[in-house]
Amino acid sequence: MQVLGQNFDMITPETEMKFDAVEPQPGQFDFSGADKLVTFARANHMAVRGHVLVWHQAIPAWFANGSYDRDESIQVLHDLIDAEVGHFRGQVLAWDVVNEALFDDGSYRKSIWLDRIGPDYVTMAFQWAHQDDPSALLFYNDYGIEALNTKSNAAYALLKGLKQEGVPIDGVGFQMHIRADAPPVQASVQANMERFAALGLAVHITEMDVSTAYLRGTPDQQMSQQGQVYQQMAGACLAVKACGALVVWGVSDRHTWLRSFLDPNERPLLFDDDYQAKPAYAYLLAALQYMP
Ligand code: XIL
Repeated sequence: MQVLGQNFDMITPETEMKFDAVEPQPGQFDFSGADKLVTFARANHMAVRGHVLVWHQAIPAWFANGSYDRDESIQVLHDLIDAEVGHFRGQVLAWDVVNEALFDDGSYRKSIWLDRIGPDYVTMAFQWAHQDDPSALLFYNDYGIEALNTKSNAAYALLKGLKQEGVPIDGVGFQMHIRADAPPVQASVQANMERFAALGLAVHITEMDVSTAYLRGTPDQQMSQQGQVYQQMAGACLAVKACGALVVWGVSDRHTWLRSFLDPNERPLLFDDDYQAKPAYAYLLAALQYMP
């Protein structure tokens, strides 16, 4: 909490706002976990990114295993969004409304929402969220869309279509779960940010971590290579006026999700296992041209 309060001015709950956490039983909402974080944020003058309203994971068993036809599924999603966005109305700067709706080839990802509702779930979610909190910024969020590529082309086309239809969408989130050994090219990330900006969208880097699992070299070399990647991606964001936030997916390496998801020796964040600032921290400050 100390490191968090001293170094950051924005916070994203990693699991506490997800469907299975907030609606463990149908119609029974529990925002206690998320409330703690929002209260901490307020006490420390931090903005909150709400994460996440519609995702193919974190589906509670009652909905995954229950039989719900299209109309009933629409009702479930509508109730979830009303309850959650309503509960945090005025306290969330930006909501990740729809998360990871695309496959890498650019097609709609198969998910319980696509199966039961069809692709219209995307538009519905943004409209309901906007009604529930007109002042919150509404984002589409995904991974692998940081640079110019097939998937970011599809995200661009999707969001351009939504804007043209007048759907209330304000921004795109680049998750930025990337690899230190094969990072996106800064110029490509910058150009990609610029094309979303040209649609009138804000850009946030929403879940940055830089995987060390495939790096070679000594530990020192690895940490400076990782630091350079943080510096480059921050540099891209700083060069683009519409890029308004850089959020990292955790504080200390000790608690990174990548240790269970990818490799038990992962060190992808800015602070080490003992909450000491790593070289990546200094590289990031260098990008910000911030002198401590
Ligand atoms: C991850 C969390 O970090 C884990 O703790 C949890 O078990 C699974 O979800 N993309 C997202 C995030 O949008 O919500 C995911 O978070 C990581 C990938």
